[in-house]
Amino acid sequence: MRIGRIGDRSGKVATGRRLSWRSAVIGSLATLALLVAIGAAVVFGGLYPVGASAGHSGAVGWLLHESMERSVKRAAAGLEGPRLSWDAALEGGSHFKGMCQQCHGGPGVQPDAFAEAMTPNPPDLSRAAGEWSRPEIFWIAKYGIKMTGMPAFGQQAPDDELWKIAAFVEQLPKVGAEQYESLPDAHADGGHAHDEADEGNGAGGHSH
Ligand code: HEC
Repeated sequence: MRIGRIGDRSGKVATGRRLSWRSAVIGSLATLALLVAIGAAVVFGGLYPVGASAGHSGAVGWLLHESMERSVKRAAAGLEGPRLSWDAALEGGSHFKGMCQQCHGGPGVQPDAFAEAMTPNPPDLSRAAGEWSRPEIFWIAKYGIKMTGMPAFGQQAPDDELWKIAAFVEQLPKVGAEQYESLPDAHADGGHAHDEADEGNGAGGHSH
């Protein structure tokens, strides 16, 4: 009798547990289905505002920037570049003028107007040196950043050139407007103005 009772009781308890376990599963599945439905409505209904002029909301901007920062730091961990002289960094500056300045600006130079209207905004890189190590700057320049307009330069520039550019970015806070202006633009044959730079000089030989 006693054994039977205990059996009954434990049977009841077990049924109760099974019920709450089952309703928890059903509840989670329903929540999941709702989230998927909302996600699908946003994607297929075209509800997400993609206009760049609106900028990112605080939460989205934070999420994207935080993911980007951690991803770059992880990917660039262990990268080691060559030791470079000040002259090599200035040579990087010549490339910076032609490849980076239009979006990021430079000492004494504003970015082109279109860059101010990008989301996210290409930041002033004189502050980047405080946030990023040289290998991280190299990594960003080589591989770019998805969905931001930051291009991957790995296809058009060899690593040694990108290391020099990274070294220059690192030194940016120390480069004055006059010194920057005196650097030749290594990419000046690219199409407009600056025709005084003879083509093909490639910033190879002459640094002042
Ligand atoms: C077409 C525009 C464009 C060009 C050209 C460009 N960038 Fe960028 N860059 C961006 C944008 C936009 C971001 C912001 C990405 C973000 O916030 O996630 C960025 C971000 C960066 C960052 C991270 C800055 C930070 O503090 O978060 C570095 C470093 C950088 N760029 C280096 C370079 C270098 C070096 C070059 C030239 C070789 C270059 N960029 C050329 C658009 C550009």
